[in-house]
Amino acid sequence: MFEYQKTGRFFAQVAGQMEEYGAAELKEFGVKEITPVYRGVWFKTDLEHVYRVNLWARLLTRVLAPLLTFSCHSTDYLYTTAKKMEWEKLLTSDQTFAIFSTVSNSKITHSQYAGLKLKDAIADYFLEKEGKRPDVNREDPDVWINLHIDKNKAHISLDTSGGSLHKRGYRINSVPAPIQETLAAAIIRISDWQGLTPLLDPMCGSGTLLAEALLHFSRIPSAFLRKKFGFENLPDFNENKWQEIQKSAGRVRRPLLEGLLNGCDIEQRAVNAARKNLNSLQYGHLVRVQKRDFREHPGLENGVIICNPPYGIRLGDEKQLESLYKELGDFLKQKCKGSTAWIYCGNRNLIPHLGLKPSRKIPLVNGNLDGRLLKVEVY
Ligand SMILES: C[S@@+](CC[C@H](N)C(=O)[O-])C[C@H]1O[C@@H](n2cnc3c(N)ncnc32)[C@H](O)[C@@H]1O
Repeated sequence: MFEYQKTGRFFAQVAGQMEEYGAAELKEFGVKEITPVYRGVWFKTDLEHVYRVNLWARLLTRVLAPLLTFSCHSTDYLYTTAKKMEWEKLLTSDQTFAIFSTVSNSKITHSQYAGLKLKDAIADYFLEKEGKRPDVNREDPDVWINLHIDKNKAHISLDTSGGSLHKRGYRINSVPAPIQETLAAAIIRISDWQGLTPLLDPMCGSGTLLAEALLHFSRIPSAFLRKKFGFENLPDFNENKWQEIQKSAGRVRRPLLEGLLNGCDIEQRAVNAARKNLNSLQYGHLVRVQKRDFREHPGLENGVIICNPPYGIRLGDEKQLESLYKELGDFLKQKCKGSTAWIYCGNRNLIPHLGLKPSRKIPLVNGNLDGRLLKVEVY
């Protein structure tokens, strides 16, 4: 028996600073014993909920099913212990697999080497048993295995998501510096936009915030474009239940009202990317996207503005961006009266240049950017 079968405990990975939001999202699925920890949330549930969480969760990066946890002070011990696991219950020698490993505060210091030893243990297990071994495929494996060693404790898990859930499948085209899908979803969630007023992204780039707003409004599962999930490899996977969950997800859809979601961008290629991405989603053609400088946009009164302005990674960009932020502030003050603006700033130095006093400043990371989500009430 694997650990998750004995304990009913699973681990959801989330980006840094999203732990509490991830925990709140998990609570809505009705799972129990929710414990946020650094970059993750422990929770207790059954497999049916694991399918549901993987299909619907907007903020979580992946859900791990713990297989075995043990004290581990050397890679030799890691190899011999892992080789005793019942791997044939999780994969066959005809399938491919990959190990994703991390190491912290432990005698074992090289995560890649630890991953290699675990890979050898699995390969040798099959070689000895069947005379052939499953191949490794790091790009698109059938089975994703996670190894985490912390304080000399090794945690071997199966990634029930089968790769990061931020890869929704709708981002066909991109722009420089797109916002991560899970972060965009967190911003939509924090804004509490429920579709009662129109929403505008005046610097929409590839349309990620608009796409996440659409998924939220139209009640489309985040992972509905995903072809396969890691949980399909679990020994107790129930295909009928999974089919049922997918069918019931289709019954709750809500058509998007035209004019509810609007975006513009100064760059034609960003508009093309947003159009293409949105068109891959149901109702996406009803999102209005225009090539326009926000400074020439008529604005939006009594609505919701959500955006992620450029933040400038190159030297010298900052000066130019200072005036862009000032103009964004002016746009909000002059053309968006009565609206609430949510602005994700990747560079905190630029915040004062908006010339508006945020009522909230929420720390949220985007990749390795220590950004802030600002809430501005425009009067
Ligand atoms: C950080 S990116 C936004 C990324 C977007 N959230 C996404 O997920 O792809 C900032 C965007 O602002 C656009 N932009 C810059 N100045 C603008 C302006 N004056 N009016 C409209 N868009 C502008 C850029 O072309 C760029 O696509």
